[in-house]
Amino acid sequence: MSETDSSDKYGIIDSVDSITPAVIKSMSRTPDARLREVMESFVRHAHAFVREVRPTEQEFERGIAFLNAIGQTTTDKYNDAVLFCDVFGISSLVTTLANGLGGPMEPATALLGPFWRLNHPITENGASIMRCPTPGPALFAHIRLIGTDGTPIAGAEVDVWHASSVGMYDVQDENQVEWNLRGKFITDDDGRFSFRSIKPVGYPIPVHGPSGPILAAQLRKPQRPAHLHFLAYKPGFKTLISQVFAADDPDIERDVTFGVTPHLIGDFRRQTGPAPASDVSGEWYSIDHTLVMSPGEAVLPTPPIA
Ligand code: BEZ
Ligand code: FE
Repeated sequence: MSETDSSDKYGIIDSVDSITPAVIKSMSRTPDARLREVMESFVRHAHAFVREVRPTEQEFERGIAFLNAIGQTTTDKYNDAVLFCDVFGISSLVTTLANGLGGPMEPATALLGPFWRLNHPITENGASIMRCPTPGPALFAHIRLIGTDGTPIAGAEVDVWHASSVGMYDVQDENQVEWNLRGKFITDDDGRFSFRSIKPVGYPIPVHGPSGPILAAQLRKPQRPAHLHFLAYKPGFKTLISQVFAADDPDIERDVTFGVTPHLIGDFRRQTGPAPASDVSGEWYSIDHTLVMSPGEAVLPTPPIA
């Protein structure tokens, strides 16, 4: 660009109203059309937010400190940016807009959460995902994967993960071995796989990051109702991220991450007959659940943690 070319000039700021158009003009030559669209919209909405809220300079400093704290709290075992987006409904909104409600993925789509990991251990169909002693009522899960046309999806890889009966994932809890309550299953010719675990319980999400004090100030319970997580992957299908919730959880209507939809409420059934394994004593449960995948691109999400 030459000294005389003025196409990148946006003028000096001579009023409060000249700032937003100047910023938008400064970005107007962005060659990437999607980046231009996203950033223009971001600036318009962010400036409108500032005009509406009129933060004091001290409040602005607190906002900056909040953003910095999200980064500083994030580690390879904990992702605070994901948690922030989850507890303010942003993840649920993105997921719902991208997949339904009303769309072909409505029956099954949920937010990923901060605890999915890449490379879950491949686990034999029917095996247990308890990799160390894990208290809790036994659960026998039978899952079926079908397409939107109802045909079974064979040979898909399905990651399963959930929290222990103390409400913690393996990466949060030094009393669990790595990969406890996680497994990767391959669906059989009828689209099915099954596994043994414990019935999941609801748990409080981590609140040691900057979102914790905000939830407390809003008198919000930082609780997720009991659920199993699934991620199903097969070339030719849109990668399915799903959760299945326990209907009897008292917090089913106040999930702090806004993830419960009617289709994601599963049927965890208390059984009274003999359990399918001889070492089960006491209460045990089963669940039969169907997950639906739609045709599309098989892209794995970026793992929120290592
Ligand atoms: C989860 O379901 O694993 C989760 C989601 C949001 C925040 C914390 C945990
Ligand atoms: Fe979870």
